[in-house]
Amino acid sequence: MPTESIVVLDFGSQYSQLIVRRLREAGVYSELLPFYAETAAVQALNPRGVILSGGPASVYAEGAPQMPAWVIESGLPVLGICYGMQLIAHTLDGSVEASTKREFGPAEITIDHPESPLFAALDLQQRVWMSHGDKLTKMPSSFHPIAHSANSPYAAMGDEERRWYGLQFHPEVVHTPHGRELIRNFAYRVCGCEGGWTAEAIAEQAITRIHEQVGGGRVICGLSGGVDSAVAAALIGRAVGEQLTCIFVDTGLLRLGEAEQVIETFRNNLHIPLIAVNAAEEFLSALEGVSDPEAKRKIIGEKFIRIFEREAESLGDVQFLAQGTLYPDVIESTAADRNVAAKIKTHHNVGGLPEKMNLKLVEPLRYLFKDEVRAVGLELGLPESWIWRHPFPGPGLAVRILGPITHERAETLRRADAIFLEELRNFGLEREVQQAFAVLLPVQSVGVMGDYRTYADVIALRAVTTEDFMTADWARLPADLLQRAANRIVNEVREVNRVVYDITSKPPATIEWE
Ligand code: XMP
Repeated sequence: MPTESIVVLDFGSQYSQLIVRRLREAGVYSELLPFYAETAAVQALNPRGVILSGGPASVYAEGAPQMPAWVIESGLPVLGICYGMQLIAHTLDGSVEASTKREFGPAEITIDHPESPLFAALDLQQRVWMSHGDKLTKMPSSFHPIAHSANSPYAAMGDEERRWYGLQFHPEVVHTPHGRELIRNFAYRVCGCEGGWTAEAIAEQAITRIHEQVGGGRVICGLSGGVDSAVAAALIGRAVGEQLTCIFVDTGLLRLGEAEQVIETFRNNLHIPLIAVNAAEEFLSALEGVSDPEAKRKIIGEKFIRIFEREAESLGDVQFLAQGTLYPDVIESTAADRNVAAKIKTHHNVGGLPEKMNLKLVEPLRYLFKDEVRAVGLELGLPESWIWRHPFPGPGLAVRILGPITHERAETLRRADAIFLEELRNFGLEREVQQAFAVLLPVQSVGVMGDYRTYADVIALRAVTTEDFMTADWARLPADLLQRAANRIVNEVREVNRVVYDITSKPPATIEWE
């Protein structure tokens, strides 16, 4: 049980998760709960305050989510954002109406009541991000205005005695440059939080939880080579030591030199028993000639199960399987279940293992965001080079070899990909993009080399910048880098005579090609 927290009630805004992130970044533990959460679930978090998120509904519409009774009865400080603010007005004696002018985008607010702790140490003029159709037309009688904008007489309002506040704009998004301070002010100055949600505390709490769950049982943990599974393993290793065995499977669909690198880094940095399985032949022969992406994923998923079963059996009495599920995945799948936020991406980590294997799941990262996972990784002594690795899909190069998979095509892609990544590193840009890779296309094109016409493979290069992988932009890589990578690929990988660069954002494209 956390010693303190701020509960964020989700009314369906696409930004709800960001509020939780901002609180955690400010050192205060927070969780996102559905607006209809049971009181017991809330109490279990020891809340010092509540934030009501934005949302797509109109508070006055029939069936619109309403203020939970426990919020009012608890006497806790409340911050309503957008829909949350309108809900405060609607619940008390204010009023909300549809606005003739939707307000969407940047706005300038003026703070009229700088004594409010919410705006402590902030300039009187602030740039903020608005996104609302409805408008507050009358504040509840116990409230007073704190800030206004040209279009909103009540851009911020408060009842300082009750410690309830409302904001018409979104402090959680980056387009509100000082929104972080506002959220911090709410947590520390209004709710009286003490902070202390640090990497050390996170690790400590996770280790305690693992201990409680696993007891004297045996755990296996699949390493993917990515940061999540490594941090999960490190935490479980700290909690239960030799009861954990890690398994790393070389599928033959990893990047150049990756298997050796993962095994070496792991053995040098984490003192946890590791079984390295070379299953390249097994995977590649099962996939030989398969083109359909879903068929590829299915075959790979099944192979993983088979291999894990085999290894678990040879270890004997294993009861638990570790998975690196992160908090955004948890939020996303529960949000989709209750249909308050559209499910944008299906969660495609290698699934289905526990049900089929009768193992219980251990998910030490279940309440953590990616940046927290990285911080914990550093805290536990994982090397920076591992912490900042780009994510790599579970099915590996299989989903980057468009068309049939063969040994030769896997090798072509692996070599082209290695050149691209090497040049990215040479230009010092690996950390500037969040994911970069090569894709082997299922077409051949004409080229000319020396006096010969060629008919050979096409490689597409993809590099993206993104905060959360849900949306992404194509990276504006320097032309010199692209030229150098293209040149080297065509010269050094005989099977390739053309290189293209993918300049689509997500959406409408996805990051991977299949
Ligand atoms: P998309 O292509 O959906 O990718 O924009 C978003 C993120 O998910 C990764 N990805 C996968 N990860 N199995 C995985 O474990 C998969 O089948 C898979 N497909 C995409 C992708 O690399 C990116 O980081």
